[in-house]
Amino acid sequence: MQSQEIREKFLKFFEERGHVVVPSSSLISENDPSTLFTGSGMQPLVPYLLGEEHPSGKRLVNSQKSFRAEDIEEVGDNRHTTFFEMLGNWSLGDYFKEEQLPWLFEFLTEEIKLEPHKLYVSVFAGDEKNNIPKDTESVEIWKKLFKQKGIEAKEVELDTVERGAEKGMQGGRIFYYGTTKNWWTRFGSPENMPVGEPGGPDSEIFYDFGTEHDPKFGKECHPNCDCGRFLEIGNSVFMEYKKTDAGFEALIQKNVDFGGGLERIAAASNDNSDVFEIDIFRETTSVLPDSLPSRVKRIIADHLRAGTFLVADGVEPSNKERGYVLRRILRRAMVHAKLNNLKGGWIRDIISSYIDSYKSHYEYLDEDRDRIIKTIEAEHEKFSTTLEKGLRELDKYETITGTDAFYLFQSFGIPWEITEELMTQKGVSVNRQEFEEEFKKHQDLSRSSSAGVFKGGLVDHEPQTLKHHTAHHLLLAALRQILGSHVFQRGSNVSAERLRIDFSQPEKMTPEQIKQVEDIVNQAITDDLEVVRDEMQKSEAEKLGALAEFGAKYGDVVSVYTIYNKDGSVFSREFCGGPHVQRTSELGKFKIIKEEASSAGIRRIKAKTE
Ligand code: ALA
Repeated sequence: MQSQEIREKFLKFFEERGHVVVPSSSLISENDPSTLFTGSGMQPLVPYLLGEEHPSGKRLVNSQKSFRAEDIEEVGDNRHTTFFEMLGNWSLGDYFKEEQLPWLFEFLTEEIKLEPHKLYVSVFAGDEKNNIPKDTESVEIWKKLFKQKGIEAKEVELDTVERGAEKGMQGGRIFYYGTTKNWWTRFGSPENMPVGEPGGPDSEIFYDFGTEHDPKFGKECHPNCDCGRFLEIGNSVFMEYKKTDAGFEALIQKNVDFGGGLERIAAASNDNSDVFEIDIFRETTSVLPDSLPSRVKRIIADHLRAGTFLVADGVEPSNKERGYVLRRILRRAMVHAKLNNLKGGWIRDIISSYIDSYKSHYEYLDEDRDRIIKTIEAEHEKFSTTLEKGLRELDKYETITGTDAFYLFQSFGIPWEITEELMTQKGVSVNRQEFEEEFKKHQDLSRSSSAGVFKGGLVDHEPQTLKHHTAHHLLLAALRQILGSHVFQRGSNVSAERLRIDFSQPEKMTPEQIKQVEDIVNQAITDDLEVVRDEMQKSEAEKLGALAEFGAKYGDVVSVYTIYNKDGSVFSREFCGGPHVQRTSELGKFKIIKEEASSAGIRRIKAKTE
């Protein structure tokens, strides 16, 4: 089955069951403190899982663009990708296990026509320490579902991956694992969750490709074994807990967060464990020479696809944060291309092929085609000279230490694996561990320097964050009053510690303009204006002139925040999920700390309220 068809079937299946289709959020997770990128469907929905009302209701379905940088090094085998689409259905305090598991089973077996005997599931084994019970309810539901297909589903307690590798399948169909595998939050284990964070037990579903177990991955095979026989194709999270100082308490509502990798479901429907054999990748890798090793094809295919979507969402290659991750994947693909003598317009051909495949669902890719190609080709141009130098440098080494290899990576962008490959060709052995230690040292350093950047965030509902968020709306309205109506928001970052806006404005602001903007915002604070949230049709919000962030996508029903002047006229009106303070007088004094260039035609303001 084609992946586009699977996506459409999924959206339709849940739409028929009362869900509203919502668009994918951006890959840039501006207000999420946990990561730089949107890596799951849950991230953009956190406020609603915590109880805020979603403008589209309690049942949602979507296909969320996701990117996981932690998997970069794994890309090249038959199943890892950095970018993927996560199919998601959501119950925000509505239905629970009794509906979720049967719907999912029906979707996979009836719509996608996966054979039920090739499906295996895992469930939560419980967590005594935190007083969270074993999920026997899901086990009962799964047993019934398998029974309807003539399968007697036996349950097996594994608890950990280590135990799984030791004990193996034992004729089981339903496997209990503990918090390392069947507990979902954005922060991994229950212990790592910050206070206020939602999470819960989950039940995963695996497809069995029937390939032979590879003992390199453990004595015995089991659903969570990494040998490639089993592929996790979906995860139903029963999000019903919230972290407290003392442990856990029930969330005010029970949610379902289902996430299934579109590419993986497509691979299961092909009954071929190579994810790169699905339509989207086949169409694209067919523009590459047949003679390229499949590992190289996969690296190029994955990294340029991720690059296409990241650039489309506004990331530019650079030396920090998101831009650095983008640069790293693009350059990794480019090194492999160079060593395999790819010439001519391979970058353009691959990106164009992706855009053609995706444009029916992601129209904006087509509209942005030239810019995307130019951005990535410009990075290629920039990198070419460095790369040549780096390869010449590498050629000089007779022996090589981990520190040297790290130097080659850091200064010339030559990935470890390339150094290893080329040195091995010369008959020189290299010490991977040393390189990894260097790399880790570097990562720890950059992590600790960025820790401050990612602390806080809108999801925490801290009073200071709410204040900054409202100040952000006042600021945008004031900028438009002083600079003109060409000013639109082009990016933002709001947390308890910071308030940042990027906006369209060709020239640097004068000190007078900055002062005028500050005065307008402070007057609005003194005036104690009312902040009101409404839900309305998107078309109505547009008619009312609500401001939307450039390039952001919204559903049919939207949440709009309006700040009213004392005479009832509108001071500010924006598309926004919130939350906000109720009156502007709750904010302290507003101050602009810095006004600077962000990128061509875009200025950036950093501000605060005290
Ligand atoms: N949020 C869940 C996951 O990413 C569905 O696995």
